Amino acid sequence: MARGGVCLYRRARGPNARLKPIPDPAPTRLTFYARAVQHTRTGAASQTKFLLEESQLPRRWYNIRSDMPTAPQPVLHPGTGQPIGPDDLAPLFPMELIGQEVSEDAEIPIPEEVLEIYSLWRPTPLYRAHRLEEAIGTRSRIFYKYEGVSPPGSHKPNTAVAQAFYNKKEGRTRLATETGAGQWGSALSFACKLIGLECKVYMVRVSYEQKPARRSMIKAWGAEVVPSPSEETQSGRAILAEHPDSPGSLGIAISEAVEDAAGRDDTAYALGSVLNHVLLHQTVIGQEALAQIELAGSFPDVVVGCVGGGSNFAGLAFPFLREKIAGRDIDVLACEPAACPTLTRGLFAYDFGDTSMLTPLVAMHTLGHDFVPAPIHAGGLRYHGVAPLISQLVLDGLIRAEAYLQNDVFASAVLFAGSEGILPAPEAAHAIHGTLQVAKAADEAGQERTILLNLSGHGHFDMAAYDSYFAGKLEDVALDEAEMERALRSIEGLPTPA
Ligand SMILES: Cc1ncc(COP(=O)(O)O)c(C=O)c1O
Repeated sequence: MARGGVCLYRRARGPNARLKPIPDPAPTRLTFYARAVQHTRTGAASQTKFLLEESQLPRRWYNIRSDMPTAPQPVLHPGTGQPIGPDDLAPLFPMELIGQEVSEDAEIPIPEEVLEIYSLWRPTPLYRAHRLEEAIGTRSRIFYKYEGVSPPGSHKPNTAVAQAFYNKKEGRTRLATETGAGQWGSALSFACKLIGLECKVYMVRVSYEQKPARRSMIKAWGAEVVPSPSEETQSGRAILAEHPDSPGSLGIAISEAVEDAAGRDDTAYALGSVLNHVLLHQTVIGQEALAQIELAGSFPDVVVGCVGGGSNFAGLAFPFLREKIAGRDIDVLACEPAACPTLTRGLFAYDFGDTSMLTPLVAMHTLGHDFVPAPIHAGGLRYHGVAPLISQLVLDGLIRAEAYLQNDVFASAVLFAGSEGILPAPEAAHAIHGTLQVAKAADEAGQERTILLNLSGHGHFDMAAYDSYFAGKLEDVALDEAEMERALRSIEGLPTPA
């Protein structure tokens, strides 16, 4: 029984001794002590964490389609080249998610059951990176929204929980999916466990080998996990026949999961990025960040995120793009690997979302569906395409993109860990590196910016990547022009965007 670290009860003597309250000897001192604790760091300018109450969790997802200056291109049926309808997607997704995919409503309510699970880790903290600012000697202010506090360690459960919920509600009992870095596979197995669904994960082979602990995590939440390409699907067998040592890619793993789901009535497919409804579910991140940065008495000049398929980037950036479209001046920066430079060097074209051409055709920046990115350690950024919504916003000049080499990215990750303490996932480290570039450019120009980045996950399962970096074994790979030309040949003859 202690208050302010002081024992307030005294044990009385004798057989029937009971704890007797001690008259508080110095109530004013104790009160003073508690107040002193609260009052040591009141000013928003010196505060480190900006936290919201559970009751402040956003109750709606924000749908950027309602505000986009140019509507995204229609999704096409690969056979007919005509826009697809809900029935074409029904074998793979529940109707509620198909509805969200095409919805033009500005806001979509988050079901209570989903909010209840979100409350296990949301709202997530917003940090002011005082120590990083000091380490680099910048005059800019740096804030980061930290999604690594979720049980699987990234932003991915924001959509995994929603997808598992709608599938269960519409009677599916099993989900099949791909995973690149292992973050999405763990997030979906976590969500399926909590909601009561079976789950099968096709994990890109290079990540399967680099990250055995992610595999165990997926298994701990009850899902089955196999390396992709696998012998379990036609798509996997076809790729292994041609390339027995294939490191795999997200495009290949997607083909396997789609084939699995399409072949079973009890199974739906769940995608961890790219699709409109996935990006929608992530917008809780940016909505919270808007409220938190207001608590800090600030507003960002620059919003930064890493882009694989684009979901964490969209999650943070879309609510701020809503402000930008309404007239506020914000620079929105997407960061990608030079080994897979989809936004900076890819073509805006219709392409398949997977390698085996099983998915509908979407208009997006692409490097070609049979492109297999070099096995860089940011496995979650090794995807040939990007979300169509992000592609359109890049075309409209609302988002800009930069690409970085992995040794530079790891140097920034280590600098961040050495000042802020958190060891970032290699994917998230691209956003840190982008932030440092922005701060450096501002300092050189004598400017002071407020920069907000999405720290999409921690890197506790990526220590092998850090080991390779420390051992000087990380290869810097920038996509070779000839390989890009080869890969882009795979989209010749497909419809072109209007
Ligand atoms: C921590 C982390 N950040 C970012 C990404 C990239 O995905 P997206 O662009 O969909 O956010 C991944 C993908 O696995 C990831 O694990």
